[in-house]
Amino acid sequence: MSSPPLIEKFRQAGQGQVFAFHDELAPEAQRHLLSEAAEIDLAEIERLTASLLAPGAKASVNLEGLQPAPFEPLVASGGDPAAWARAKAAGEAALKAGRVAAFTVAGGQGTRLGFDGPKGTFPVTPLKQKTLFQVFAEKIHAAGIRHGHPLHWFIMTSHQNHAATVAFFEEHRYFGLDRARVHFFRQGRMPAVDLNGKILLETKGTIALSPDGHGGSLRALERAGALDLMQREGIDTLSYFQVDNPLVRCIDPAFIGWHLNRRSQMSSKMVRKAYAEEKVGHFCVQADRLVVVEYSDLPMELQCQKDLRGKLLFEAGSIAIHLLDRDFIRDMTRPQPGRAVATLPFHRAAKKIPTIDTSGRPVKPEQANGVKFEMFVFDAQPFARNPLVIETSRQDDFSPVKNADGVDSPKTARDDQLRQYARWLLANGAEAEVDDTGLPRVTIEVSPLFGYDEDSFAESWKKLARPPAVADGLYLS
Ligand code: UD1
Repeated sequence: MSSPPLIEKFRQAGQGQVFAFHDELAPEAQRHLLSEAAEIDLAEIERLTASLLAPGAKASVNLEGLQPAPFEPLVASGGDPAAWARAKAAGEAALKAGRVAAFTVAGGQGTRLGFDGPKGTFPVTPLKQKTLFQVFAEKIHAAGIRHGHPLHWFIMTSHQNHAATVAFFEEHRYFGLDRARVHFFRQGRMPAVDLNGKILLETKGTIALSPDGHGGSLRALERAGALDLMQREGIDTLSYFQVDNPLVRCIDPAFIGWHLNRRSQMSSKMVRKAYAEEKVGHFCVQADRLVVVEYSDLPMELQCQKDLRGKLLFEAGSIAIHLLDRDFIRDMTRPQPGRAVATLPFHRAAKKIPTIDTSGRPVKPEQANGVKFEMFVFDAQPFARNPLVIETSRQDDFSPVKNADGVDSPKTARDDQLRQYARWLLANGAEAEVDDTGLPRVTIEVSPLFGYDEDSFAESWKKLARPPAVADGLYLS
């Protein structure tokens, strides 16, 4: 019997090993393997192997002419109060007109946290132990109420966590959101290859596939019909954030207004790096283009370099909060004459990839035996018209949960949430005892439905007939 055409294509591309055990598989398993293989763009793999794996291929990023990127400072650090006020008003108007949707990238594997399950289902709040997804859902819900227009929310999952993520929302009745406005879609996958570019099998009947990075979100949005939906609904701006950050302002009127007023196609928020080694991307300019250089790609001596005033030269850290223009995403994903569909570059990461040997026995490698390919969303920035970086205050936008302990852990995120509640309470005349880092002595919580930023908190607080005392267990909802 002749082989299916797809198998022939793999053989001709020098990837016949993918089907080495095909003939011994049961028919169902054969179909599964073929469907996985059908996801793979062989020409793309060949191109990546040639550009990223060939002997002499540049392993490091080009740092030539790299300069720190300019950004719009906050009023507190010298920004123009009138421009910030104009931005906020423009953002509020856009929200009222329903031009904005929220977008969470939640396809990552969360390996560092060591949590078994979609990261969005990790409990993060100090008192009620709400999960990351619930926190975002309530912030998005509250923003919809405040601006008089409920928001659509797109959530990108991966093959590994899609079913569990959807089931979690079902189980919790979408946390009060209109389920017709919550849209899940899976990101694409890329095969891992060995150091010679040969696609690796995970088992005899499965390919070693993994998510294609958050940069894959652009083509996944297009493929899933999200851009069409946005167009039908009159939504032109997508508010992008990561699943790991409970402090994120999912919907930030001033940020939206800056983006719209500047006619930017992609805008990003920065914070000043807390310390030189902080593991964030760096906003830079290179050949007149805005780029983000990842912490792992910027040599430590540059990360530590200071300017004449003694502050870090590359101080603008990316917290992975962006605004993306709908038509820009289309341009980045739609085939155009002379341009491949995926304009974003792939990055290679050498990894230990569980695989099988030529006789089909499992191999658990002790050192990197292959490479995974990933795209990063911030690589879209150099393609954007009028890309913009604005400053945000770390304490109101960024406290990610990445590691099980130490920095960027559940403990630091919990404390930062508590500090935020305490700041809001103190600013509105409540009495709360805090230590010298602003951490309250008691465990309290503010529901995003009561207040999700200083403005909404102040409004709700003023409406209370009898403001409660700040005591252990206080929950404002
Ligand atoms: C990321 C950024 C870094 C930024 C920091 C801020 C990268 C490479 N680096 O670092 O510049 O300063 O966050 O916190 O992104 N995800 C997917 N699909 C994937 C891979 C990731 O949806 O295939 C999602 C994750 O679910 C998560 C986010 O992308 O929401 C970040 O992924 P992660 O790999 O944890 O990035 P970091 O190394 O923490």
